[in-house]
Amino acid sequence: MVFFQQLIWGLITLDLSWWRTTFQVPQEPKSIAIVGAGSAGLAVLERLLKVSAQKGQEWDVTLYEQTDDVGGVWLPDTRDLRPPEIPYSPLYPLLRTNTPVPSMTYPGFPFQPGTPLYPTHEHIQEYHRQYASHRQLFPHIKFQHSVVEARWIGSAGGGAWNITFVDHSNMTRYKEVNHLVVASGNHHIPHIPRWPGQEEWLEHRRTGRPQREILHSVYYRRPEKFTARTLLIIGSSASAQDAAVQTVKFTKTTYISVRHEIHLPPGSDDVVTKPDISHFTPNSVVFADGTEVGDVDSVLVATGYEQRKPFLESGGALTVDPSAHSNSSSTGRGGTLVTNLRYIFPLHQHIFSLSPEYPVNALAFIGLPTRIANCPSDFAQGLFVAHAIANGSILPGREELLGELALREEKVRKYGYDPYTVGHEMVNGTSSDYQDELVDFLQKTNAIPKTGAKYVENWRRYIFDYAYLKRGWKRIEQLGEGDKWVKGIETEEQWSSLMRRVNEWQQRYEEDNGVPFVQDMVIGG
Ligand SMILES: Cc1cc2nc3c(=O)[nH]c(=O)nc-3n(C[C@H](O)[C@H](O)[C@H](O)COP(=O)(O)OP(=O)(O)OC[C@H]3O[C@@H](n4cnc5c(N)ncnc54)[C@H](O)[C@@H]3O)c2cc1C
Ligand SMILES: *[C@@H]1O[C@H](CO)[C@@H](O)[C@H](O)[C@H]1NC(C)=O
Ligand SMILES: *[C@@H]1O[C@H](CO)[C@@H](O)[C@H](O)[C@H]1NC(C)=O
Ligand SMILES: *[C@@H]1O[C@H](CO)[C@@H](O)[C@H](O)[C@H]1NC(C)=O
Ligand SMILES: *[C@@H]1O[C@H](CO)[C@@H](O)[C@H](O)[C@H]1NC(C)=O
Ligand SMILES: *[C@@H]1O[C@H](CO)[C@@H](O)[C@H](O)[C@H]1NC(C)=O
Repeated sequence: MVFFQQLIWGLITLDLSWWRTTFQVPQEPKSIAIVGAGSAGLAVLERLLKVSAQKGQEWDVTLYEQTDDVGGVWLPDTRDLRPPEIPYSPLYPLLRTNTPVPSMTYPGFPFQPGTPLYPTHEHIQEYHRQYASHRQLFPHIKFQHSVVEARWIGSAGGGAWNITFVDHSNMTRYKEVNHLVVASGNHHIPHIPRWPGQEEWLEHRRTGRPQREILHSVYYRRPEKFTARTLLIIGSSASAQDAAVQTVKFTKTTYISVRHEIHLPPGSDDVVTKPDISHFTPNSVVFADGTEVGDVDSVLVATGYEQRKPFLESGGALTVDPSAHSNSSSTGRGGTLVTNLRYIFPLHQHIFSLSPEYPVNALAFIGLPTRIANCPSDFAQGLFVAHAIANGSILPGREELLGELALREEKVRKYGYDPYTVGHEMVNGTSSDYQDELVDFLQKTNAIPKTGAKYVENWRRYIFDYAYLKRGWKRIEQLGEGDKWVKGIETEEQWSSLMRRVNEWQQRYEEDNGVPFVQDMVIGG
């Protein structure tokens, strides 16, 4: 049966590799486990199924997802959890995307007509569901399956991952696969700094005031919670700024502690900006400039997330070393995989682990890069992984790849950044080049046909240069004209032209009215 399918597929796709694989080099059927059904997991699942079909091979591909639906961070977690329990997603009801939806699509799969340019999270969640349904991904996804350990059993030459997971009926099970693809997201394990004196500050009781609290933004849901309180937000990320704008309508005072000057969006005039925290006393919060605030009730720590993969750590495949800051420390461990909580290394193209313990295509990560439009990037990474799994020989040897990595890190240093600090961030606007490189490589090795065109379409390249777009869309919504603008917008070309028109419309308005220019585009969370 399998052979018959291969034969048919081989004829349909005129790909004769089935002949070689079937008659010359008997190969074990490929088995692959993916962790996570967010944007990244769906993209790689789709690419793996597509490439295996093109090759006329039947790969055993299973995606494990701990929640009961696709969408990852776009799927809200409405349970009222407290530490040490961590919600699946930091999503809060008032969240709207900070990037226009055409930037958030997989190639060739635009959003439904009528979607606002900066929609609520429900639209993004629904988009993922439609994608999974259209591409027939659901049969390959096991929901309410939580991967707790992945351990390599084998050697540099070959072996298997022993994947241990807890299934929907709380049964611990395991499965062996040859390839593990980690798409478990970057926004799950809160990074919570500690300050001197915070315990004494927390324990200090005040009459007539609520008990003090320090909470990470992963728990932030509704601004009403802070009614009549004094709130101190720490951090300058999009979520920190969102929380400031939303809570200031309810709080006694909202402070925001930032390291560098930020431009808060309109509506946040009453938010008070403070520098870094120095320490706490039992009565107050003391800042780096020596100023103190005495009446803080709640501290919301919006300081981001740690780059960790607990199931790899428990399986001995990833070492946590917060102080690992150069490639020498990885060499010290024999070059096995390390995370310093920002950067996982050594990886080829932020994807394949270069640990010497297993073959180069045995462990892949999808979705690590930030400051990138993630769906098209996940899709390009997914294609790269699918072909490197189909034929491991397309990748050069480990030593050569380590050399490439050293060059890549050197380039990041040339841009003025420390690769071990910026981690997987696409610095200096290199995110399109990165995706193009992945696809160019596959073309160069004849894994896919040459097209003569760059992978990242022209219209995507300039989305983040539309400096007036977000404010333009806001004004359109205030005028109640959103539906009118998006009516009939279906194809990628139409979406792209809509963005151009909104951007120009707002630029003219700001120039005519002398509205000061404020840069407010932020990519990613
Ligand atoms: C609050 C917030 C707002 C954002 N806003 C934007 C925006 O406006 N525009 C933009 O482009 N990007 C935004 N981002 C970035 C966003 O993270 C990406 O757009 C993208 O959704 C990430 O997808 P992912 O698949 O890589 O990870 P995730 O969406 O995190 O998906 C990972 C999945 O893996 C599952 N998982 C994890 N561990 C396990 C395990 N052990 N076993 C089983 N399953 C597991 C999780 O349940 C989850 O479903 C935002 C992020 C956040 C946090
Ligand atoms: C795989 O993991 C399971 C559960 O953790 C364990 O019982 C089993 O012995 C492991 N298999 C091998 C070959 O190590
Ligand atoms: C699942 O099993 C673990 C231990 O095997 C147990 O501690 C936990 O309470 C169980 N959870 C549920 C929801 O049954
Ligand atoms: C695998 O890739 C190598 C290197 O590009 C190539 O020489 C070989 O023909 C490929 N094998 C198959 C089965 O396509
Ligand atoms: C570490 O990286 C630097 C910069 O890329 C390189 O010059 C150096 O040789 C590397 N050191 C080791 C031990 O690999
Ligand atoms: C990095 O970006 C800055 C600002 O866009 C630019 O001036 C600079 O030339 C870039 N650096 C390199 C090495 O490309």
